[in-house]
Amino acid sequence: MKIKHLLSIKDLSVKEIENILKDASKFLNKNKIYKISKNIKGKNIINLFFEDSTRTLTSFELAGKQLGASVINMAVATSSIKKGESLIDTAMTLNAMSPDILIVRHNMSGVPYLLSEKVNCSVINAGDGSNEHPTQALLDVLTILRHKKRISGLEVAIMGDVLHSRVARSNIYLLNKLKAKVRVISPPTLLPPGIENMNVKVCKNINEGLDGVDIIMVLRIQKERMKGSFVPSEKEFFRFWGLDGEKLNKAKKNALVMHPGPINRGIEIDSDVADDIGRSLILEQVKLGVAVRMSVINKLIN
Ligand code: NCD
Repeated sequence: MKIKHLLSIKDLSVKEIENILKDASKFLNKNKIYKISKNIKGKNIINLFFEDSTRTLTSFELAGKQLGASVINMAVATSSIKKGESLIDTAMTLNAMSPDILIVRHNMSGVPYLLSEKVNCSVINAGDGSNEHPTQALLDVLTILRHKKRISGLEVAIMGDVLHSRVARSNIYLLNKLKAKVRVISPPTLLPPGIENMNVKVCKNINEGLDGVDIIMVLRIQKERMKGSFVPSEKEFFRFWGLDGEKLNKAKKNALVMHPGPINRGIEIDSDVADDIGRSLILEQVKLGVAVRMSVINKLIN
């Protein structure tokens, strides 16, 4: 399998997805790293993050280093971008240093695509605006697989701020490719236009939305992407749309809860649910994120 970039889930075939997830599972076993990642020593990876990140940036760095690559985190805040250099000029400058992979996060949709056309190396989309976050969806699916052993036929609810969520979009594409039944639960103000055409069931009522689900993916309320008021008070949002123990009872008895992080406790999710080790997969998602990113980096290089 040879893919040059990972920009969107849409570009991956089911076979390629299965392949990435299979290797990610192998990478969880440290002894297998050397065997699978033969050509990575001496390769250079640059993390180019124009937006804040804890999990994604750290896990890409750890993933690259565990494979034996050199990883540089470009400090955007102290780079020449602050002196007025354009995005393309920055990318061309980095390209001139011949990196093997550029990992890009930006608050504007489409930036990783644009850069991929200007540079010679591979580009990974680590989140572009509200558009996509493909490695997050891949790690989410791997997390589900490890618990439910299948994706096909599972009832998956994605709830909260769907409008601003690149995680929601990538997961909708990926879960549909793998034949899950996807529904979104959200107040009408937080649903993207055209959601009806994304092969999801739209639930504007939380009881109906959670009824019989196997997996609940809770999304963060993305205040930084909201211009104006999309929700009433946070207290009211939590009351109607936040996931707490009582609402969770509507789901299947063995339903599991996920969240890409960072979580806003008491706004979209109650601490009792987020910290319930029997129900919440939040920290396991973080753990599997490193393995999935190792697998993606390895696929792009080898
Ligand atoms: C997500 C992101 O940045 O899109 N976080 C992440 O990568 N773990 C979701 C979010 O910021 O709410």
